[in-house]
Amino acid sequence: MKVSIDNISKSYGKKRALNGVSFEMENGVYGLLGPNGSGKSSLIRILAGIMEASGGQVRIDGKDRKACDHLYRSKLGYLPQSLNFYPEFTGRDYLRFIASLKGVDSKKAQRKIGELAEQTRLSGDLERKCVNYSGGMKQRLGIVQVLLNNPEILILDEPTAGLDPQERIKFRNLVSIFSHDRTVLLSTHIVSDIESIAKQIIMIKNCEVGKIGTQTSLTQMIAGKVWLITMTLEELADYQEKHIISNVIPEADRIQARIIMDE
Ligand SMILES: Nc1ncnc2c1ncn2[C@@H]1O[C@H](COP(=O)(O)OP(=O)(O)O)[C@@H](O)[C@H]1O
Ligand SMILES: [Mg+2]
Repeated sequence: MKVSIDNISKSYGKKRALNGVSFEMENGVYGLLGPNGSGKSSLIRILAGIMEASGGQVRIDGKDRKACDHLYRSKLGYLPQSLNFYPEFTGRDYLRFIASLKGVDSKKAQRKIGELAEQTRLSGDLERKCVNYSGGMKQRLGIVQVLLNNPEILILDEPTAGLDPQERIKFRNLVSIFSHDRTVLLSTHIVSDIESIAKQIIMIKNCEVGKIGTQTSLTQMIAGKVWLITMTLEELADYQEKHIISNVIPEADRIQARIIMDE
């Protein structure tokens, strides 16, 4: 299934959130990388079909998304930026509830919940109330919820927010496993969430797509522009104003800084 995002724009009143965003996805993990406020959630809500774009078109295998809305939704799994749970629900109640909303019949749902809980190491916790789960468990429950209808397209909005470093790595591995034969769009502002698993990285900044490429092609762009310089703390402050400093290592009375600049 090919998803084409064609010249999508979005404004909230006078506030512009997306400006002519275009790219295509077909099988594999796509990382939507951008700082807070860059328009990631706006794009994701449009792709999930819960918000209309102000302009442009989303096409599925060449057809307008709205023309194949029912089919598209049946193949879509969406994890919003924040998930809310009814306080009385156990993990299993929640998953059965979502399965019924997705129209998965109850026998199939029961089997699928068992399988996915096993794969996400949640089996032992399904009878506990999910409001009491840890951040990592809630996100794993979120991914199980996404996968209940065996979707071909997964859209995950900042799924690693609030996870500790170890949980992040586990989550990344989980996404990588589930991305086989599927199209996954994962938004994040943290490079390491997607750097080893994304087939393509879509960089979004100030409502626009900047660069699109593989991790290798994007890092290639700064080849020959990374400098290792030993300097004083005062000099570092000066450089920091004008350039991107990717790393600093303190030495005896100086600092070794890795700086990205043309010359
Ligand atoms: N419902 C809304 N009403 C007005 N402005 C909004 C709304 N949602 C998002 N925005 C604005 O649009 C821009 C993009 O937001 P968003 O898509 O949430 O970015 P991100 O997910 O990358 O943080 C931000 O400036 C944000 O303040
Ligand atoms: Mg967001």
